[in-house]
Amino acid sequence: MAAPVEVRSQDGSFMKMLVYDNNYFMSFFVGNIKDHLADIEQMEVRDDDTFVLTYPKSGTHWAYTLSSMLRTGETTYHGSPTFLDFTNMETINNLPSPRVLASHLTFNFMPRQIKEGKGKVVSMLRNPKDVASSMYTFAKKLDHPDYQARYQLSWEGLLELYLGGRVPSGTWFEYIQAWDRVKRDHKGNNIIHLIYEDMKQDLGSNVRDLAVFLGASCEQDFLDKVTENCTFKSMSTDSANLTPSEQWMNVTNNKILPIYRKGEVGDWKNYFTVAQNEHFDKVYKEKMKTSSFNFRFQ
Ligand code: A3P
Repeated sequence: MAAPVEVRSQDGSFMKMLVYDNNYFMSFFVGNIKDHLADIEQMEVRDDDTFVLTYPKSGTHWAYTLSSMLRTGETTYHGSPTFLDFTNMETINNLPSPRVLASHLTFNFMPRQIKEGKGKVVSMLRNPKDVASSMYTFAKKLDHPDYQARYQLSWEGLLELYLGGRVPSGTWFEYIQAWDRVKRDHKGNNIIHLIYEDMKQDLGSNVRDLAVFLGASCEQDFLDKVTENCTFKSMSTDSANLTPSEQWMNVTNNKILPIYRKGEVGDWKNYFTVAQNEHFDKVYKEKMKTSSFNFRFQ
């Protein structure tokens, strides 16, 4: 059974989450966690399903919007994805095809059929310093009393909890190590890794690669339109004109999806002190020494 926990940093910052089987989950994870994880494991995957897997604040909405436009052929912005983690199985089963679902769970929690090669997985990864500053500013933006009762964080406090893995989804490092294991062991060719920093550098060629991977139309006019509609500017403008879902309304009072902030590489420099950065670099070097993933920080 999942149990509610309150984790605290040395300076008294805190987060309320759920803990199950030594893993931290967001407090709005469905049901008692155990049963929902079992439902996900057994879920019937469709050939044209896409699962967008991300560590929080790594560009979930970006990868979802791109995948969704490519899969459906429609280039309109639709806001937030349906998360496997936060949606009951009946709703997921009733979604029309092609489904593009998101999750902050690691690949090992995914449906058995995906592991057997059915459906497609779009993984999106981002350097851990920008993830940390995005997580911090996101938590600060949540202006609903319910949420304020769940998260109270200073930057120092967030960094301490983040490095210690006492945040939803655990440590970024373990998340990457889990992908390294999948790279080594998974037999199928139904996984693509998108890297946030590469997408910022050249969105067009990443859109083409993703289109090929998803078996979508590769007509240049279509790809150009998708690229144009998935820039930070375009997505943040579109999102400001869209009323967020009820789930989001529960965490914000201003009716604007609190996702689009700066959308840059290197904004972490505005948050890390020199000492915090030196410490982080040391941890990164140690934890990533056997990883096949490499991240740029600017
Ligand atoms: P910042 O807070 O650094 O601006 P997620 O969707 O996983 O919650 O990730 C949110 C982060 O992705 C935010 O980062 C957001 O601005 C960024 N993002 C969303 N869409 C983007 C886009 N089209 N281009 C670049 N960054 C984007």
